[in-house]
Amino acid sequence: MPRSIKVAKAYDIDPGEGATVIAEGIRIAVFNVDGEFHAISDTCVHVGASLGEGWLRDDFVSCPLHGWRFNVKTGASDMHRDICVERFDIHQSGTDIFVRFED
Ligand code: FES
Repeated sequence: MPRSIKVAKAYDIDPGEGATVIAEGIRIAVFNVDGEFHAISDTCVHVGASLGEGWLRDDFVSCPLHGWRFNVKTGASDMHRDICVERFDIHQSGTDIFVRFED
C-alpha cells in the first residue's frame, strides 16, 4: 500500500536549491525547480556523494564530487542512458512536502 511521508517544508528549500532528507531510512535529495519540487536518491551512483549537496541548474543537479549530472525530474544521467538514480514521487500539500513510497 502506498504511503506518503512528510520530508520538508516548502519554505526551507528555495528555488534553485536542494536538500537532503531521510525518510523510511532512505537518503533522498529534494530539489526546488522554479517552485516545483522533485525527489531523487541522494546517493550518487558513481561513488556515493550526496546529490542534495550538489549544484542545481535548470533541471540538472551536478554531483559535488566529480560533476556527474542527473535530471532531478527523471533521475537520468546526461552521460549515458543506463546511468541513473532512483526517482521518487513527490507532492505538496500547503507548505508540506511529501514523498510517496510504494510497497
Ligand atoms: S560521486 Fe558523484 S560523480 Fe563521483
